[in-house]
Amino acid sequence: MVVRSMDIAAAEGPERLREIMAELLDRSTAVVKRYGGTLNQFTGDGIMAVFGAPITLEDHAFRACMAALDIQKEVGSTLELRIGLNSGQVIAGEIGSSTASYTTIGEQVGMAQRMESVAPPGGVMLSESTARLVEDTVELGEPEMAHIKGSDDPVLTYRLLAIGAHKRRRRSEPKLVGREWEFNTLTGILGETISGAGCVVNIVGPPGIGKSRLVRETADIAVGRGVSVFGTYCESHASDIPFHVLARLLRAAMGIDEHEDDAARALAHVQFPDASPEDLLLLDDLLGIRDSNVPPPEIAPDARRRRLTAMINSASLARQEPSVYVIEDAHWIDEASESMLADFLSVIPHIPALVLITYRPEYRGALSRVADAPTVALRPLSDAHSSLLTSQLLGDDPSLDELAAQVADRAAGNPSSSRRWCAI
Ligand SMILES: Nc1ncnc2c1ncn2[C@@H]1O[C@H](COP(=O)(O)OP(=O)(O)O)[C@@H](O)[C@H]1O
Ligand SMILES: [Mg+2]
Repeated sequence: MVVRSMDIAAAEGPERLREIMAELLDRSTAVVKRYGGTLNQFTGDGIMAVFGAPITLEDHAFRACMAALDIQKEVGSTLELRIGLNSGQVIAGEIGSSTASYTTIGEQVGMAQRMESVAPPGGVMLSESTARLVEDTVELGEPEMAHIKGSDDPVLTYRLLAIGAHKRRRRSEPKLVGREWEFNTLTGILGETISGAGCVVNIVGPPGIGKSRLVRETADIAVGRGVSVFGTYCESHASDIPFHVLARLLRAAMGIDEHEDDAARALAHVQFPDASPEDLLLLDDLLGIRDSNVPPPEIAPDARRRRLTAMINSASLARQEPSVYVIEDAHWIDEASESMLADFLSVIPHIPALVLITYRPEYRGALSRVADAPTVALRPLSDAHSSLLTSQLLGDDPSLDELAAQVADRAAGNPSSSRRWCAI
């Protein structure tokens, strides 16, 4: 919603306001589309967009957050916008054939509008339900109580500050239950890799079953033993950006993320003492730190890939310090990263490195078929562990026993579902 659109109309004239709004609509539509959403209503001085099925709840809430921040960045200081986000069940129906007439009705839409109305100009406000879905992947402000239309009680709202998937905040995580053999297996393999026998381990399971949690627990042990941990993650909306996932992992492993391009290049180049100038140019290009005054290298994609693989593999073979590499959510990996990482994984048995790859069971790509890689398939929590988790989340007051039983029943051993049901 545009702040003070009536003032703009008064100052600039209604014609100019129409132009401004048309441009805003164009730009917002582009951003929303980029993140897989649908723009479904234009209300004169505001727009509404929907991010929905069939992708998982967490993912579409996260996409909406990214779109909201991008739209705020796009409009810059020309206009002030308020944006509100809410998540939940809506009744959606296709009316007519164009996507613009896709209409959603329901309480949830009302809640999104309320969030918009309490957002500060230039800000993005999240309802509690959205905040809960994205709290591990974005940076949120402190909870604020807001009075909204149609509700006597104030509701909890959270200001969206930034996207921060690489620095996941661990707010209020439940204590780990179960997963003993899985955890022991991973720490056992970690011990072996530290002494030189590198290993790739697949961690497989449906959304919310605890893949990332198991990886974090293992990474904590590694860090405690003085082993460096480097990670990358795949995102559904980035699966067609070539080398995206690989570049992120390399930047992390080379320690260049926090540096300006010049310093990053210098830091990267010293790590490849045997590389030719042309190889280094390929590397800069891959890492996204190429000097803009230097033209991009003209080398066929296949040759480029071969040379980069050779460089990365030989640099890895020379690395003596034990390391853990994490590749999260490989079911969303881009093809170029997938094939280069698959080549890189062939050197792992020869170096002191543990590679943890998480993905959903439907993924059948190259990273799921690494030779001699053990697989840890996460099953639903046992009934006993499930109720342990529920009582941790709800407390163990006997009056809650029945509720706890219902939660355990509905969550069916999925820890993420338990958390969701207990938070309602
Ligand atoms: N064994 C467990 N004990 C307690 N909490 C768990 C357990 N496994 C997962 N969780 C919690 O459930 C949520 C979802 O787990 P996560 O690891 O993100 O799932 P996935 O990566 O498989 O989608 C997280 O908040 C996590 O801390
Ligand atoms: Mg995960």
